[in-house]
Amino acid sequence: MQIVRSSEELALYRAALEGKLALVPTMGALHPGHMALIDEAKRRADEVAASVFVNPTQFGAGEDFGRYPRREAEDVRMLEDKGCDFLWAPSVSDVYPDGFATKVSVAGISERWEGEARPGHFDGVATVVAKLLLSVRPHVALFGEKDFQQLAVIRRMVSDLDIAVEIVAVPTVREADGLALSSRNAYLSPEERKRAAALPNALKNARDAVAAGSAVSIALQEAKQALVDAGFLRIDYVALVDAETLEPIDEPLGQMRLIAAAVIGNTRLIDNLAV
Ligand code: PAF
Repeated sequence: MQIVRSSEELALYRAALEGKLALVPTMGALHPGHMALIDEAKRRADEVAASVFVNPTQFGAGEDFGRYPRREAEDVRMLEDKGCDFLWAPSVSDVYPDGFATKVSVAGISERWEGEARPGHFDGVATVVAKLLLSVRPHVALFGEKDFQQLAVIRRMVSDLDIAVEIVAVPTVREADGLALSSRNAYLSPEERKRAAALPNALKNARDAVAAGSAVSIALQEAKQALVDAGFLRIDYVALVDAETLEPIDEPLGQMRLIAAAVIGNTRLIDNLAV
């Protein structure tokens, strides 16, 4: 696998590539969820690129940018084992050189839920993903459904800016007890890790209750109570939303998604389920 570290090298490398290219953007600390993205990328393209960049602009003040896990040697080994063709691993100054002054901001869909809990987060995501797409110029880019709102923001941005790329969503990969794989699961103590499974379970129970005809407000209230009972210290939201607009809905209709974010110990977890 070729590791490309500077914009100049990337431009040369990209210019020489022929065939259909897929990109899997990541912040590293790779796990089997990322490997599922690479597998899907290989099915859809001739060449597969991954990027590893812990993007400072999507972390708020007081968030975990400093302690976000960085494990490049292990990431490289996993990508090589999967048959990834090249890794784009830029430095912060490559992505944000001196004088960088542009921000991509997706109104509306960025503002609720994660956007409310993490002001500025989606501006950072949209800006870096726009840069990744415009510099790597993949035909296909793959993102996990685990970050469901991120996916919706990226789809909106790509459509609004006429970026010529197909965005592909890949289902969340889960542990045996249902916990969605996430690089941030590494922050959980063994005790918190056990209790964290209450999050996917609460969503599953709410989904089943809504499907069985329970009132949405009651199903959501029960999910929140289950999280409190499991020791989650703060619940940012548990909501039933339209799967495309992410607007909250109180009567089941069309394509829906249950979404949740809650804090256990010092770790903020997010998850979602199709209804
Ligand atoms: O989902 C992630 O890992 C990041 O938000 C992304 C899309 C790589 C942008 O930094």
